[in-house]
Amino acid sequence: MKIGIFFGSSTDNTTTATEFMKEYLEMNDHEVEMHNIADADVDKILEFDNIIIGCPTWHIGELQEDWDSVFLDYEKLDFNGKTAAFFGCGDQIGYPANFLDAIGMLADPFMKKGGKLIGRIPRDNYQFEGSRALDKDDKLMGLGLDYDNDDEQTCEDYMIEWLEDILDEFPG
Ligand SMILES: Cc1cc2nc3c(=O)[nH]c(=O)nc-3n(C[C@H](O)[C@H](O)[C@H](O)COP(=O)(O)O)c2cc1C
Repeated sequence: MKIGIFFGSSTDNTTTATEFMKEYLEMNDHEVEMHNIADADVDKILEFDNIIIGCPTWHIGELQEDWDSVFLDYEKLDFNGKTAAFFGCGDQIGYPANFLDAIGMLADPFMKKGGKLIGRIPRDNYQFEGSRALDKDDKLMGLGLDYDNDDEQTCEDYMIEWLEDILDEFPG
């Protein structure tokens, strides 16, 4: 399976996560292209049918700056026929009312423009109050990674479990 991972990162936590995912997927015989959205054209996303999108939340409920710069073009893309899983880094203790907001800010337009979202996560894995990443069933629309409060091993365990789930859900 060929997967495109698109991410943005200001202090490298999302970069660390993305590199780990790429390595894990390649070890399991999947072809992966990793693109930092700071350096890639946003319509490059459409070259892939199976997509992973990673964006940390910054500045109290905002997209990371490189995603913010391309957002107006991103939300115009036609995602029909695309399947995507979202993840984000955040801080559930420091920003409990806005934990992982960026996941919702990118996942909503993806679904509105015809994309199929996979990789939802129960919220009880975390402790926070509010998030734009919650759907109507109170599930998170993507994987949350909290490098500020969890150790790296915990983040890796979360990623492996989630990757195994989304690999089953990608159309192949
Ligand atoms: C000024 C500032 C604002 C932040 N705002 C939020 C927020 O609203 N929600 C959240 O979940 N995390 C927030 N965070 C935490 C970051 O998302 C977290 O540190 C993340 O791991 C950064 O990812 P990056 O290193 O890939 O940029 C904030 C951090 C800082 C320093």
